[in-house]
Amino acid sequence: MPVNIPDISPEVQQAKMRFGIVGNAPALIAAVTRAIQVAPIDLSVLITGESGTGKEFFPQIIHAYSPRKHARYIAVNCGAIPEGTIDSELFGHEKGSFTGAVSARKGYFEEADGGTIFLDEVAELPLTTQARLLRVLESGEFLKVGSSTVQRTNIRVVAATNVDMLEAVRSGRFREDLYYRLSTVQITVPPLRERGNDILLLARKFASDFSERYSMPPVTIEESARNVMLHYRWPGNVRQLKNVVEQMALFHAGGKIDADEIRQYLPDATVSYSPAVTSSAHSYDHERELLFNMIFRMQSEIDRLREEIEHHRPSAADVAAKSQKVEVIEMPTSLVRYGEHTHPAFSAAIESPVSETVPPAAAGMTLEETERETIRRALENNGGRRKDTARELNISERTLYRKIKDYGLE
Ligand SMILES: Nc1ncnc2c1ncn2[C@@H]1O[C@H](COP(=O)(O)OP(=O)(O)OP(=O)(O)O)[C@@H](O)[C@H]1O
Ligand SMILES: [Mg+2]
Repeated sequence: MPVNIPDISPEVQQAKMRFGIVGNAPALIAAVTRAIQVAPIDLSVLITGESGTGKEFFPQIIHAYSPRKHARYIAVNCGAIPEGTIDSELFGHEKGSFTGAVSARKGYFEEADGGTIFLDEVAELPLTTQARLLRVLESGEFLKVGSSTVQRTNIRVVAATNVDMLEAVRSGRFREDLYYRLSTVQITVPPLRERGNDILLLARKFASDFSERYSMPPVTIEESARNVMLHYRWPGNVRQLKNVVEQMALFHAGGKIDADEIRQYLPDATVSYSPAVTSSAHSYDHERELLFNMIFRMQSEIDRLREEIEHHRPSAADVAAKSQKVEVIEMPTSLVRYGEHTHPAFSAAIESPVSETVPPAAAGMTLEETERETIRRALENNGGRRKDTARELNISERTLYRKIKDYGLE
């Protein structure tokens, strides 16, 4: 099996178990890792991926690993609420604001104050609702339908979509400014056909779940059928696989499934799909891309913060108090750093604007220089111990070794 389990951090393993996520494909693990890394930082996150790939796990991970975990988590399916009532559902309404509004009602943005809202199928939001959403994301302010009193709320938004958002923006169905606001961080959930052996792991798990649920002996999937499954396109992704296994569990309980049998459940099964060969270099590139992407987005946020902070230069007493290396910063922005979960690449960069003893990590540096500096500092903090450094940076030891070599940090 081309699976390298030791590359999966204990934290990711734990999240997988807690949420019942099955699979070890590098792109899936990268998505879970990214959700855990971004969870403590109060940024909006957009989850993208084809239908049925498991996007709904991710806002839950983000909420559960964030400081908002004790506050409310509300999931809203934007595509399932009629256009006429969605503003009122999300933002509430005043009594008499429309026919049928017999009493005032709180919306989800008020109910979930302090917590997280998951906006599923976000591309389905009507343009008028998009304008309200942009306002609440930018200023925390909103108006109930039929009210002129501005209200405030403190919400983190995680959104998901299976449509091409850039296309929705191009065709005028989605506001560009809102798209950028929502996708401060993006997490892409890979299609099932690109997850290799995960297809078989998932099939085995669903087969055992259904046999238990229906109290029937489990089906056995023969090698010929496994091959068909590995080369099928799975247009409906994990949801489709689950449905197929459920049908087999019911109609072939205790039996053996071969290639011919399984094809009956798979539309267009004869059109086989050849997964792109995933070399280890590819997964390195992917990991690197993730890291850069995050640092990149953080950098512009840091530049903005630096400007703000330069307008509030600290007093002499503040400087003395800040002479320790690491500190918790109270920031006058939506960007909040919380304890240990923060990715070191973020913390190193975020600390720099206010710490008087550490040279700025991000100012005027290229992304590569920022990454090099982040790794150099982490090595220093850990007395050169690579294992501990890799753990702190949340990257595999192999990746760390390679980066140390690339950056001449030996
Ligand atoms: N890695 C996984 N391990 C176990 N179950 C999974 C996994 N991925 C998806 N599932 C299951 O597959 C089904 C579909 O997942 P989900 O509803 O999250 O899809 P989605 O990406 O939100 O799709 P859509 O865009 O159509 O809403 C769910 O029953 C989910 O529990
Ligand atoms: Mg969904």
